[in-house]
Amino acid sequence: TPQMTYSESDPGENETISSGFILVGFSYLGELQILLFLLLLVTYLITLMGNLLVITLVMLSSSLHTPMYFFLVNLSFLEICFTSGVVPQLLVHLLVEEKTISIAGCAAEMYVNTIMGLTECCLLAAMAYDRYAAICHPLHYTTIMSGRACAQLAGASWGIGISLEVAQTTWIFSLPFCGSHRIHHFFCDIPPVMKMVCADTSKIDILGYFITVLFIMGPFLMIILSYVYIISTILKLPSAEGRRKTFSTCSSHLMVVSLFYGTALFAYVLPNSSPTVENDQIVSLLNTIVSPMLNPIIYTLRNKEVKGVLSKILEKSLFSEKR
Ligand SMILES: *[C@@H]1O[C@H](CO)[C@@H](O)[C@H](O)[C@H]1NC(C)=O
Repeated sequence: TPQMTYSESDPGENETISSGFILVGFSYLGELQILLFLLLLVTYLITLMGNLLVITLVMLSSSLHTPMYFFLVNLSFLEICFTSGVVPQLLVHLLVEEKTISIAGCAAEMYVNTIMGLTECCLLAAMAYDRYAAICHPLHYTTIMSGRACAQLAGASWGIGISLEVAQTTWIFSLPFCGSHRIHHFFCDIPPVMKMVCADTSKIDILGYFITVLFIMGPFLMIILSYVYIISTILKLPSAEGRRKTFSTCSSHLMVVSLFYGTALFAYVLPNSSPTVENDQIVSLLNTIVSPMLNPIIYTLRNKEVKGVLSKILEKSLFSEKR
């Protein structure tokens, strides 16, 4: 029976857990956890610096005060919160033997992670809508994407993320947990924590499906639909140069969406698709850690406008040093 594998300090199957959990995480790596620690530390620092750079560049440069960059700043802020909700705790756990987390800590981690995750889905859809309006309705773009509309779209994304995930997480943590303390994951994500609940979870599962279908798959379908319109509009453009230029205004967003949804679909929508716990963790790591790091890199390196602003600022600072 599975009980044989529990250590002696664990409570029995039916005993309620009130003290906290053990996040088994990457324990199976043994000494190699130090390497993962170093790798993640570098990744985390790059993520923080990259996203702060994006926020600073957009705020400093008036040529970047457009809807696309308004959403990008919002996304960068979100990515900082998203990754900071998981990585600092994971870094500590990679160094210590006792990978414990209190129930309150576990709940806090789940609030941050799920709110940011769901808000990101909605924000990416808002950004796709912005690209759709810019490319398919260029003459009405400034009226469709007014400052007010942008603020409302971003506000709605945060509103959906916060209200639904506060409800879902609060509900999960109102239920009793029992069995082994061990969570076979590196942070308190919904699927592994739900396995610790010993109560009827069918109603929460319904809420989970509702959120997944309407607010994770829904935005995804809206993004796909936007790109169907965008690509068919681009293909109708007469010159190859025009097609290339127009596509370049949405290619960064397309890459960011593919990265985020590609990993999120594997981690949440098809949670039983990977054969092992280890694979689940790696997909989850890509979604919560690698994707936030790559977003600012994609947007700064692939984007002429942002690169232009960056080189102007660098030139100015070099110039003023010489004088
Ligand atoms: C993101 O958008 C919301 C809603 O419009 C706004 O209140 C918030 O200040 C924005 N955050 C950043 C960092 O731009």
